[in-house]
Amino acid sequence: MNESIERAKERAAEKAIEFLFDAKIIGVGTGSTVFKVLEKMHERKDIFSNKSYIPSSHDTMIKLSSLGFKIIPSYFANVKPETYVDGADEVDKNLNMVKGRGAALFTEKILAYFSKRRVFVIDYSKLVDTLGYKKPIPVEVVPYAASYVFEELRNMGLNPKIRYVKDGKDGPVITDLGNIIIDLHVKVKDPSKLELNLKKIPGIVETGLFVKLADIVIVGYPSKVEVLKR
Ligand code: A5P
Repeated sequence: MNESIERAKERAAEKAIEFLFDAKIIGVGTGSTVFKVLEKMHERKDIFSNKSYIPSSHDTMIKLSSLGFKIIPSYFANVKPETYVDGADEVDKNLNMVKGRGAALFTEKILAYFSKRRVFVIDYSKLVDTLGYKKPIPVEVVPYAASYVFEELRNMGLNPKIRYVKDGKDGPVITDLGNIIIDLHVKVKDPSKLELNLKKIPGIVETGLFVKLADIVIVGYPSKVEVLKR
């Protein structure tokens, strides 16, 4: 990992915990940046050990429990996060985002949508003019519909590719909820329109386009931090 990006993530994570001080129940996203935030929270156990956490993935649940934080499962918990904290793959100037590099987009979007306040934490390399510029747009698809959905996405000119596992398992990535991921290698002119069109296709349960779901984006640079608000 590039050293200046590491430093930028550290700075953003340090800043992010300030936005979590006042929440008793925190939804936690997935990925390397949010894990840095968890480490910073762990350093301030005086504040953060009295709170409860709703994880967005098995990975985050493992991380939270290894740090000794109290977990509330989302299943039938009947409590929503006051604040949600997560990373992102790309963020545009309207604070619309692409998420899902780690295949947790569905559960992340559920928590983000149902949280009172959403804080996203990124390093400067994630800022883009157009979503899809550097990273594909993932869609989560139920296996039963995968071949039909794939053909539909190809006919729509969205350049779909099924995401495969690199290590530890042969075959496609299977999400925590048992679905597969199809990555769309396209530049997105209108995120809301694409999101709407994708959600019309039966079998697509969620997309990695996060439109109007960020209240605050904390952007880390090697020697400063910017706080962007929607
Ligand atoms: C998980 O599926 C993703 O949405 C991540 O939150 C996102 O890819 C950011 O991950 P990093 O912080 O590791 O870049």
